[in-house]
Amino acid sequence: MRKKTSSKPWSGRFTQETNKLVEEFNASISFDKRLYKHDIMGSIAHARMLAKVGIIAKKEADKIIAGLKAVEKEIEAGRFKFTPDLEDIHMAIEKRLIEKTGPVGGKLHTARSRNDQVALDIRLYLRDEIKEAQGLIKDLQKSLVNIAKKNIDCIMPGYTHLQRAQPILFSHHLLAYYEMLKRDYERFADCLARVNVIPLGAGALAGSPYPLDRDFMAKELGFAKPTDNSLDSVSDRDFCIEFCSAAAILMMHLSRFSEELILWSSQEFGFVELSDSFSTGSSIMPQKKNPDVPELVRGKTGRVYGNLTALLTVMKSLPLAYNKDMQEDKEALFDTVDTIKECIKIFSPMLQTMEINKERMLDATKGGFLTATDAADYLVKKGIPFRESHRIVGRIVAYCIKNKKALDDLTLKEWKGFSGKFEDNIKNTISAKASINSRKTKGGTALEAVKKRLKEIEREMR
Ligand code: ARG
Repeated sequence: MRKKTSSKPWSGRFTQETNKLVEEFNASISFDKRLYKHDIMGSIAHARMLAKVGIIAKKEADKIIAGLKAVEKEIEAGRFKFTPDLEDIHMAIEKRLIEKTGPVGGKLHTARSRNDQVALDIRLYLRDEIKEAQGLIKDLQKSLVNIAKKNIDCIMPGYTHLQRAQPILFSHHLLAYYEMLKRDYERFADCLARVNVIPLGAGALAGSPYPLDRDFMAKELGFAKPTDNSLDSVSDRDFCIEFCSAAAILMMHLSRFSEELILWSSQEFGFVELSDSFSTGSSIMPQKKNPDVPELVRGKTGRVYGNLTALLTVMKSLPLAYNKDMQEDKEALFDTVDTIKECIKIFSPMLQTMEINKERMLDATKGGFLTATDAADYLVKKGIPFRESHRIVGRIVAYCIKNKKALDDLTLKEWKGFSGKFEDNIKNTISAKASINSRKTKGGTALEAVKKRLKEIEREMR
């Protein structure tokens, strides 16, 4: 007679207790407890299906479902003790169910493996989280649109190489981020379509000998359809990787925006001032006001990239089908979800409370020859080839630098000294406002073009 071993549901073929270190090492309950709601939701659908196809009696299903709901209540009330000996959330819930319902609870796991169960749980969980993240992205887009509208004609320098390049509207600059976020939203929508399939019924790896109704379960849980290959169903985590990849791109966008806010709020730029309520001080330098929030968003981008790399690396050499390595998917995924949500959430109020220093921005467009291209284009309109006009204006800029003048300071006589084609209206042409408003092409910075885009955006956001 063998010695009775632990209470583990899989302990039948074992003659020794699990080593304590192994128990701790193996357990995922400390983090996968977060899946409890989705685990129970999936189990309820599974129980209903088992009854529907006659594997268990309707009465038994009812008992199991009532038991699962009671366990859920216990967890929600904080009365559930998540200890490592329970291994993972799936076994923890099942064990408690059996304690509550007696042997009938032991029928729940018929025609199911933890392998298809965990794949289902992650998909259910991620589906909710994607929708939430999309809602947050929409909120941030709304904030951007509001700030753009309020400051529609505020002028700033546009940059290339972080060198002042051409004047642009600040609203146009903000709306560039609207477009990035729009694509982020779409990437999550694409990902959602691939998340939204149900793996349940795949069993451990080979499918099920029971007459399961996978379409019924799909319908019960709001999935588009069941997966098409049992091996793939339990071994695939590319949907998590896809999510983390979309999240990494989103963070890259937020990080670039953060970098700009950090630069703009420096004394060197002085374009914006973050609200005191969104800044922090220094413990030693009394004068300091630091942009910690955008810095942290920029910094947290690193961990989101890291999570993506971790998942790709975990999966890269795994033979089909399930391997325990895959338990490592969850922390990276959860951390990514938490991080992106907290970063998008903090961005809107930070932007809304930020002061915009319009004068500083406008001043920065002066004295840097930002409308030199406009002067060259002026000559092109008078029939001079662009290469030639570029050279002429280059000489004018050199002259201005030498004589400490802005383009604005030049007299018509000085202009004419470089080309007889310059007329009095060159003065208007080279104003920041004229430069901006001449760029009327679709997607350009002209006030007219920006207003047009805002109209379209209003329709998009509805
Ligand atoms: N805790 C496991 C995980 O997260 C659940 C699946 C366990 N499957 C198994 N065959 N041991 O991956």
